[in-house]
Amino acid sequence: MNGYLSKFELSGKVAVVTGASEGIGRDLAIGLSSVGADMIISSRNEQKLREVASEITNMGRRAEIFVADVTKQENIEDLKRYILDRYGKLDILVNNAGFTVNKMAWDITDNEWDLMVDTGLKGLFFCCQILGSIMRAQNYGKIINLSSTFCRSLVPGRSVYAAVKAGVSHLTEALAVEWAPHGIRVNALAPTATKTPSRAQALQGDILNYLLSRIPLGRLAEPDDLICTAIFLSSAASDFITGQTLFVDGGWVAKG
Ligand SMILES: NC(=O)c1ccc[n+]([C@@H]2O[C@H](COP(=O)([O-])OP(=O)(O)OC[C@H]3O[C@@H](n4cnc5c(N)ncnc54)[C@H](OP(=O)(O)O)[C@@H]3O)[C@@H](O)[C@H]2O)c1
Repeated sequence: MNGYLSKFELSGKVAVVTGASEGIGRDLAIGLSSVGADMIISSRNEQKLREVASEITNMGRRAEIFVADVTKQENIEDLKRYILDRYGKLDILVNNAGFTVNKMAWDITDNEWDLMVDTGLKGLFFCCQILGSIMRAQNYGKIINLSSTFCRSLVPGRSVYAAVKAGVSHLTEALAVEWAPHGIRVNALAPTATKTPSRAQALQGDILNYLLSRIPLGRLAEPDDLICTAIFLSSAASDFITGQTLFVDGGWVAKG
């Protein structure tokens, strides 16, 4: 053994996941904690966060909750203070919080535009900036931004969401270049449609059949697919990787 497996361990690492109250964020928080990370899970819904934290502590792992709205920079500053107070450091930041509507571009309202952009792009940027400053002081850190296959491909009804995710992937490259001298690796994880409870109803019938026809490996993404990728991008195993968007999409983007 050359110790390769141990490079994937996250024992002693401190990780924050935004939007961790449900869906992919919840699964990623549980997944990272399962390989040793101490967690701070954040979103706007305290009750749901408590339930996720219980799942983590029931596994014998540490989880703190912090209620924050990523569209409010003062909330992110408060989260930074909380991280430093509780753990004194931050190794892993998963920017997962997102908001989407599925509507033709003609029908998008001003408020819907703001919610998608302010949550998924502006909020993500200020989480990178404000929480990433902890990593800069340490000269090491891993940031994982949730992108999507729609950063590189399009379906009707997802115009603004696709623009946000293209922005996320490009911003990821820009921050990777700028922050490499500080030891901060910035990558994006881009899933195809993922079987989470919040999407289960939407992923049926004709829509499901269409999605499956676009995915060469013939199935939707499972939470485990994303967890394994997030563990890799969070761990020392990926220390020479930065600025990448890693598609976890069964071949969707490759198919064009
Ligand atoms: N599911 C998919 O098929 C899929 C595919 C590709 C990419 N993605 C991306 O993966 C991420 C998670 O998707 P999901 O399907 O799991 O979403 P989801 O089930 O709708 O959950 C969204 C999460 O974001 C949080 N959130 C929303 N607005 C927030 C805000 N202003 N401040 C803080 N937290 C906020 C929500 O928590 P609270 O309501 O408690 O705040 C919730 O925990 C998103 O970035 C999404 O674009 C998802």
